[in-house]
Amino acid sequence: MTTPARPTTGDSAPSAAGDAVLRVADMSVAAGEVPLLQDVSFTVGRGERVGLIGESGSGKSLTALAVMGLLGDEVRAGGDVRLAGHDGNLLRAGERSLARLRGREIAMVFQEPMSALNPTMRVGRQVAEVLQVHGTARGRAAQQRAVALLDQVGLPEPGAVARAYPHQLSGGQRQRVVTAIALANDPALLICDEPTTALDVTVQARVLDLIVHGVTQRVRRCCSSPTTWPSWPRCASGCW
Ligand SMILES: Nc1ncnc2c1ncn2[C@@H]1O[C@H](COP(=O)(O)OP(=O)(O)O)[C@@H](O)[C@H]1O
Ligand SMILES: [Mg+2]
Repeated sequence: MTTPARPTTGDSAPSAAGDAVLRVADMSVAAGEVPLLQDVSFTVGRGERVGLIGESGSGKSLTALAVMGLLGDEVRAGGDVRLAGHDGNLLRAGERSLARLRGREIAMVFQEPMSALNPTMRVGRQVAEVLQVHGTARGRAAQQRAVALLDQVGLPEPGAVARAYPHQLSGGQRQRVVTAIALANDPALLICDEPTTALDVTVQARVLDLIVHGVTQRVRRCCSSPTTWPSWPRCASGCW
């Protein structure tokens, strides 16, 4: 039996009680009669980074997938999950409403970047697609924004990277692309599920720096120019 994962907060901005971007209360996940997660409760405040710590098999990924509404049909989740700006319990939300939130209000960086990317599509198109799907940018503007995002995540020659297929990039480069996709629409909440486990040790620190830097920049932009950002939840983040 594994020890349950537990949340821990980093040295980021403190969360005030009424300032939560995500509230998870008494969440449970079960496969049929077999309980996989029980009584999971935590809050992610605006600008706060929350880490979920636990050994392999303790339920970290299940927690992330349940919040994203990406659990398979064979498992079901109970409890109450609230996202700022969204009415109702996310665990009860329909697929259409979740599809609108995913990639826009909540984004996720998965453990294995190759499986998160479409191997048959150029990287630039994959970044542009998430902008187009959510109406953030269209056509040529979306393509240009995609190259700008690849530049922001520190990829050299972002124009060339945009034309590459995922297999033509290194693991670290692919994780940067996945991070660019996750940050593309300035999500209110960023969920990272062991984003560096599949990477070489030398690349791990750089990718973590990138995620922390990307989130900090967004919080700073949000706070420094409130008139250009629609509402406070847009710039908060969570990470595990
Ligand atoms: N679809 C599923 N059906 C049954 N059991 C599952 C399913 N997904 C995950 N589990 C089990 O739930 C537990 C927690 O898994 P997971 O969240 O992936 O752990 P972690 O990410 O902390 O390593 C594991 O014992 C795993 O085998
Ligand atoms: Mg996991």
